Amino acid sequence: MSEQAKENPILEVESVHVAYGRVQAVRDVSFSVPEGGLIALVGANGAGKSSVLAAVSGLVRPGSGRIRLEGKDITRWPAHKRVGAGLVLVPEGRQILGTLTVAENLRLGAHRRRRQAAPESEMYELFPVLAERRALPASALSGGEQQMLAIARAMIARPRVVLLDEPSMGLAPKMVDEVFAVIERIRASGVTVVLVEQNARRALRAADTGHVLETGAIAHSGPAAHLLKDPRVVKAYLGVE
Ligand SMILES: Nc1ncnc2c1ncn2[C@@H]1O[C@H](COP(=O)(O)OP(=O)(O)OP(=O)(O)O)[C@@H](O)[C@H]1O
Ligand SMILES: [Mg+2]
Repeated sequence: MSEQAKENPILEVESVHVAYGRVQAVRDVSFSVPEGGLIALVGANGAGKSSVLAAVSGLVRPGSGRIRLEGKDITRWPAHKRVGAGLVLVPEGRQILGTLTVAENLRLGAHRRRRQAAPESEMYELFPVLAERRALPASALSGGEQQMLAIARAMIARPRVVLLDEPSMGLAPKMVDEVFAVIERIRASGVTVVLVEQNARRALRAADTGHVLETGAIAHSGPAAHLLKDPRVVKAYLGVE
């Protein structure tokens, strides 16, 4: 990575506000992500984590603030145009299509970014568990396998930035380990990752930088290693191991 790439953030979120009617879900949230970095957004239920990702991916329009991708203002871009530019969301709750096969779900992911998409075979190398199950309906997969499929469906679009919303939610400990191993591999391949997790300790251990959201606003930010030792963060979000 060049020095310049390190200094120039690939994604910038600046003073973003999101409201649903009278519910102010995100208040003045700002952060930036260096190219190739992995940042964690952690916080309690309802803190606004998914709403931040919704604003970044274009599913909701922020009431105010700016979002930039590689310096370009994308605040008003529709979601599909952001996918086309390489900004891809893996939504909370996976949202794969159960009646379609694993292979068909992957093709839907590829279709969103036709020219740049990776071959299916590349995803089967990255996710061997999916290769064996490619002809099965996605509904036949375990929760962890469905999460792998959701991540693969994003990765087949060859994103530059991937937004992961609670990828370890509801998974058995062994599958949580596998999901985090996949996140490490994605990061090692040079893709920038924004990781939203309620499993704050795991997320901060994987991340370079962390931001803690409290009732819609960033309460603590810093190098992830510092947050893991910050008594306020430990007390509220990490507890005893
Ligand atoms: N579509 C919506 N309409 C109205 N209010 C919403 C909507 N989506 C989220 N909210 C509210 O906005 C706030 C932030 O919700 P959000 O889903 O962003 O939090 P979160 O940190 O992702 O929570 P969780 O950990 O439960 O996924 C909450 O008060 C929530 O009830
Ligand atoms: Mg959420």
